[in-house]
Amino acid sequence: MSGAESTESNLQENRRFAPPAEFAAQAHIGSIEEYEKLHSRSIAEPEAFWAEVAEQLHWFKPWDKVLEWEAPDAKWFVGATTNLCYNCIDRQVEAGLGDQVAIVWEAEPYADGQPQVVNLTYNDLLREVSKFANVLKSKGVQKGDVVTIYMGMVPELAIAMLACARIGAVHSIIFGGFSASAIRDRVEDGKSKLLITCDGSWRRAKNVPLKANVDEALEMTDLIENVIVYQRTECEVHMTVGRDHWWHDLMDGISDDCPAEEMDAEDLLFILYTSGSTGKPKGIMHTTGGYMVHTYMTSKLTFDLKPDDPDELYWCTADIGWITGHSYIIYGLLPNRVRTLMYEGAPNEPGPDRFWDMVERHKVTKFYTAPTAIRAFMKWGDEHVEKHDLSSLKVLGTVGEPINPEAWVWYHEKIGGERCPIVDTWWQTETGGHMLTPLPGATTTTPGSCCRPMLGIDAAVVNSDGEEVPNNSGGILVIRKPWPSMLRGIYGDRQRFVQTYWEKVPGMYCPADGARVDPDGNFWITGRIDDVIVVAGHNLGTMEIESALVSHPDVAEAAVVGFPHDVKGTGISAFVITKGAVPAPGSDAAEAMKKSMSAHVAKELGPISKPDQIRLTEALPKTRSGKIMRRLLRDIAAGNEIKQDTTTLEDRGIVEKLQASG
Ligand code: WT7
Repeated sequence: MSGAESTESNLQENRRFAPPAEFAAQAHIGSIEEYEKLHSRSIAEPEAFWAEVAEQLHWFKPWDKVLEWEAPDAKWFVGATTNLCYNCIDRQVEAGLGDQVAIVWEAEPYADGQPQVVNLTYNDLLREVSKFANVLKSKGVQKGDVVTIYMGMVPELAIAMLACARIGAVHSIIFGGFSASAIRDRVEDGKSKLLITCDGSWRRAKNVPLKANVDEALEMTDLIENVIVYQRTECEVHMTVGRDHWWHDLMDGISDDCPAEEMDAEDLLFILYTSGSTGKPKGIMHTTGGYMVHTYMTSKLTFDLKPDDPDELYWCTADIGWITGHSYIIYGLLPNRVRTLMYEGAPNEPGPDRFWDMVERHKVTKFYTAPTAIRAFMKWGDEHVEKHDLSSLKVLGTVGEPINPEAWVWYHEKIGGERCPIVDTWWQTETGGHMLTPLPGATTTTPGSCCRPMLGIDAAVVNSDGEEVPNNSGGILVIRKPWPSMLRGIYGDRQRFVQTYWEKVPGMYCPADGARVDPDGNFWITGRIDDVIVVAGHNLGTMEIESALVSHPDVAEAAVVGFPHDVKGTGISAFVITKGAVPAPGSDAAEAMKKSMSAHVAKELGPISKPDQIRLTEALPKTRSGKIMRRLLRDIAAGNEIKQDTTTLEDRGIVEKLQASG
């Protein structure tokens, strides 16, 4: 797979990029020596270190103890109370900075040929969030209730999540690209009674029918009592009387006074679902205090944020429906008092230069995107980049999957003008915030490596006994000590939490990524060690896609693997045993069947889970004990020559047949 493949070339990667002296001189952390000193101290005295970070934020009541740890259970800032929404908004207003812009939002469609931009100040946010918090209360939402949010990238999404945080409701945000059954599953898992959505959202000038998807989901579950609909695209929607309410009706005339609830540091802040090795997505739990402290510090250090620089404008291109958007569009940014840009739509609408046009118009200083996007830009052609002035940029970030050195170097040259440090940030939904990353003023980077552990993070590469392996030998990445934004569990499934993360290497957090450390002390991620594939920066469970396929009437059995894909990093390849006769390869019947299977997966799970390749077959290569030989399938999907031993195969002819059917 792509991760493993890039390792080979990475072993020869010897280009080094030191932070420009001018950048280092103004950075929060300006040399590797300073980083090393801070990092050693943060590991030696974690409680003192994290307390100093936490003191930079607002607490109603201070902690009695920084950390209580009994693996795998951590409690951070024990006894303290705070409110993350208060730290995002009220704190700036109370400091007299309410007129400063907090969120810059740009719509996807132009109006009369002009970009549509909305600036929301901290005062605006305080008013809108307080009003919406009162709306939630008026619909019976109480502290601890799970509120489901399924919206496009509109400011009201930020307002809705902040309103939940304000009153202590737990949000569960579902990415707008997911389908009705994903909504149903998450609503049921979280036992949610209220859902917030939009009529539709704009994506490449088309309306994505969010409300219609919700309606379909709610036919399959009757838990939801109230649906609040924000009107965005003005598409036609069906409103169920008594259950469905327009956002604007509820907001009309409601009080804008709603003090932030005093939350215990360990109160649940949100649940966010991520795919796992087995079919069912995991509701990752994040709590208030630790998550706030970690995302605040990492935003500040990784992007070298400067709140007092009036030109500072940070843009993360992720969707808020993913952890990247939670942590690095909203929750880590607003407490840093830096303007955060939110963009509604697609990178190639109306043309392939939309992002660069936006960087130029808004004068973006810090830019954060995914390798899959960078590879798409490379493919679309340099001319779309070259026609824009990108000289405002200072730091470039990547996240989501290993970045291949070619894409890294292109990003450095074409987007960063060879001037901007690149921060390749490794982390997960579960970790809440950055874990391994260069610091832009301190770290000499090398393309493809996510470099060093963040301050406070004790990362190592070990064997399955938990012993550190020598430099350059591959092993399992682990985090040996607790950190504030670590997941506190999987919603409703204690056993799965313990088994998934804490039993592979006893006593240590195991993220299920392979890694190695090079002689300079830089970490390289070599790919997943479980049945999760990272497609275009998104974590997808192969089992989940397999179960979706098996629910298609023509499918008897399915196996899904990843293969190297030039834009998405990893593509999805499905091997499907048909129920009836296998139609002739290349025939209209075969193509129609594959198309229908693809559409079925898109409907069940959402378009990102759609297979890139489907092979129809009457059998799969299995060992004599009946295990599907996934390694072999990966080679077939990648078009590799089969070098591995196939003697344990039950039927050797099957391999040639599968190769021919591709
Ligand atoms: C998995 C987590 C972190 C938010 C987006 C994805 C892979 C993530 C990197 C990176 C190599 C990376 C890992 C990880 N991953 N960032 N910089 N280099 N791999 O969050 O959906 O929870 O996926 O994404 O495999 O375990 P996620």
